Amino acid sequence: MEEEVKRGMTRERQQERRAAKSSNVVWHAPNVTREMREARNGHKGAVLWFTGLSGSGKSTLAHAVEERLHAMGCHTFVLDGDNVRHGLCSDLGFSEADRVENIRRVAEVAGLFVQAGVLTLTAFISPFRRDRAQARRLLGDDFIEVYCAAPLEVCEQRDVKGLYRRARAGEIADFTGVSSPYEPPEKPDIIAPTGEESLEHCVNLVVDWLAGHGVIRPEGGR
Ligand code: ADX
Repeated sequence: MEEEVKRGMTRERQQERRAAKSSNVVWHAPNVTREMREARNGHKGAVLWFTGLSGSGKSTLAHAVEERLHAMGCHTFVLDGDNVRHGLCSDLGFSEADRVENIRRVAEVAGLFVQAGVLTLTAFISPFRRDRAQARRLLGDDFIEVYCAAPLEVCEQRDVKGLYRRARAGEIADFTGVSSPYEPPEKPDIIAPTGEESLEHCVNLVVDWLAGHGVIRPEGGR
């Protein structure tokens, strides 16, 4: 097992395999490893997991952080809730069970991106603590939780997509913050005050955290 952990299969994955439906499948360890990719990129792979209410600025911040990191020569990709729900998760709605499955799939995909050495940014409401905790278990130290801490009143006031108004009018069921819960992180790695501070301030906060924790070098990647 130690050997498999070293070669790209996490302990968590080892345990889950025992419960998987598919049998007679054998893990194939890559010749080009994550470490080789990271050495080439000049930075680590990791997942910046943006969570917060609809309209709290998750996508805006994730894309702005990506833009900065890209300009610094880092290899990046954003997995965005609304976009992923057009494809990979187009079979899912907003019931509790569907949200759980949405987050499970995203965490799995993010894990693959990390193995590819990519700085991955996910922008999903991900309202339930236990689902984020599960993503953290799966991704281990690669999981960096970024709480976009705009309060409901601010998000509702902005109502960029007009969804809060429709949810209040009873036109959208299970709407987060209105008729479905949002459980804020208890110990996020980064709190981005997206309700009060500028986008640039929040971008700096995230990028400085990455440099301060050795995920990227201050001068970026190559
Ligand atoms: S999550 O809860 O499963 O993490 P996700 O981030 O993928 O949600 O999708 C949220 C986006 O879907 C919102 O930004 C909003 O545009 C749209 N949306 C549509 N219906 C709902 C709903 N009932 N609750 C929350 N968001 C919704």
